[in-house]
Amino acid sequence: MPVSWQMGRLPSADMRESLDLSGAWTWSIDPYRDGLYGFHGDPAGEGHRRWDDRDVDEVSRKNPTALFEYDMRRSPTVQLPSSWITQDPTLRYYDKLVWYQRAFDLPKALPGHRAFLRFGAVDYQAFVYFNGEFVGRHEGGFTPFAFEVTKLLRQGENRVTVGADAERGPDTIPPTVTDWETYGGITRPVHLVITPETYVDDAWIRLTRTGRIAVTVRLDGPSAAGRLVRVRIPALDFELEGRAGNDGSWAADAPAPPGLKLWSPDSPQLYDVVFEAGDDMLHDRVGFRTIEVRGTDILLNGKPIFLRGISMHEEEFGKEPTRAITPATAAALLGEIKHGLNANFVRLAHYPHSEVMTRTADELGLLVWSEIPVYWRINFARAETLATARRMLAENILRDRNRASIILWSVANETPLSDARNSFLATLARDVRTLDDSRLVTAALLTDRREKDGHVEMVLNDPLVAQLDVMAINTYNGWYSPDPLAKLPDIVWNADRGKPLIFSEFGADALAGFHDPALKRKFSEEYQAEYYRQTLKMSQKIPYLRGLSPWIFKDFRSPRRQHPVYQQGWNRKGVVSETGQRKQAFTILSDYYRSQMAAGR
Ligand code: GCU
Repeated sequence: MPVSWQMGRLPSADMRESLDLSGAWTWSIDPYRDGLYGFHGDPAGEGHRRWDDRDVDEVSRKNPTALFEYDMRRSPTVQLPSSWITQDPTLRYYDKLVWYQRAFDLPKALPGHRAFLRFGAVDYQAFVYFNGEFVGRHEGGFTPFAFEVTKLLRQGENRVTVGADAERGPDTIPPTVTDWETYGGITRPVHLVITPETYVDDAWIRLTRTGRIAVTVRLDGPSAAGRLVRVRIPALDFELEGRAGNDGSWAADAPAPPGLKLWSPDSPQLYDVVFEAGDDMLHDRVGFRTIEVRGTDILLNGKPIFLRGISMHEEEFGKEPTRAITPATAAALLGEIKHGLNANFVRLAHYPHSEVMTRTADELGLLVWSEIPVYWRINFARAETLATARRMLAENILRDRNRASIILWSVANETPLSDARNSFLATLARDVRTLDDSRLVTAALLTDRREKDGHVEMVLNDPLVAQLDVMAINTYNGWYSPDPLAKLPDIVWNADRGKPLIFSEFGADALAGFHDPALKRKFSEEYQAEYYRQTLKMSQKIPYLRGLSPWIFKDFRSPRRQHPVYQQGWNRKGVVSETGQRKQAFTILSDYYRSQMAAGR
């Protein structure tokens, strides 16, 4: 199945005028999916369909024999977007189906317009109904999707019902077992997007490595074919126009305008860009830069760069994160990374983060590694799982390919080697290049450990390297191995494959405030700090190393981490605690990056 850029709709519609449906929604749990299937697996009956367009109480008053075993209008309410794990103690470890519903008023009809329900993300699967009608199902917990509701929209009260189902299994992406919490629910904003009958559905603009501005636009609607399309960068007095083809698409390029200031972490210059077609306008704020590899170097705007980074999960600071990422929470996280750690790079692990996070990286000036959760034990032999991964990758790239901060698309993390895995990931790497030839392909890989002449040698034996522009390795010597920390710098790395290498993960747990200066036991801040000192020394001995994204910026929730004193359901490899308390390792890394900056790296 060729990757079609028709995947998804309105991928970057977060900049469009729209009705924000954040706020109070009613909710009701449904662990046995009674709202979808009857007791023999047939479709749900009238008394169980949470989405039916009726007031259950009113019907029951008129018909005393009517039986309903739900009532969404009288269920409790919660403020969305947020994960249900923080909305009620009974839901802290719930990972099945929850029904959400809210109404909104449409004051006047909108003839000649189209209406879409756009979801920033629903983790893991969403069943969407509008005014009693099924409008679509989406699988994947971290990418936007939109369903058209034009024909169902009515003047007066409209009602949205969403079944959010967090359950994952051996065939999903990610599979059941990960090292992070499942934040089930509607975790990003929901909008009603109104467009003209023919509108700009997708638009991508970038600076090519040959110094030209290239645009790719796709229109959707009855008048798309042959319609005049224009793109403008007013601040640069730049304009390009042309006519869409029969499929509604248009692509063009032209020399970059004089005076164009390139985007970089030190100078995150963004420009207002307007895409116009007929009576539709789509605005975006875009930075222009190039990223490429030459031998073992990564070149940003033609100059070698070293990626001084850190990894992070999508959780706001605080004891009870609910994965509600706002401009303020994103700025707090990325601001500490950029200014506190002296970083120029962040690995947004292990899934596409909120578009708020990538837009904040654009504004602040941080380079970004973006990835989809092809993580650990994926069912690589299953065609439908590959199709899910391909769609998820396309939805991620289509949403964010106007983000200057993103330089790397990663297709996998620590996946066990097999022929099926190699073929699956090679397909994803090809899809990246089809959808976006302006960025680099990578993946977080594992290595083999050998003892040689009394030394530890780490060997990269992964055939996927041939498909990558940048190699990335997760390494935990000294944490998940008994290596004495003082021995880490003696480790020999056998990973020179003529391409740049990033250490995409290394790390050690520490409970903030737990000190053990004498023994420096694992989980003490002293152990973590010494682990960083020695691992950084080891990294300096690798001539083809071009970046670091240690694991991890902030302690994060993980059900796999249950030491009763040090972890309590949190992975403590953060250099800051969940509330942002800096650990000793924070200073080690921050000082190291400051010295790298001073040395011009
Ligand atoms: C792995 C994995 C992470 C995990 C980390 C750890 O490398 O990629 O998701 O959290 O190790 O063990 O802490």
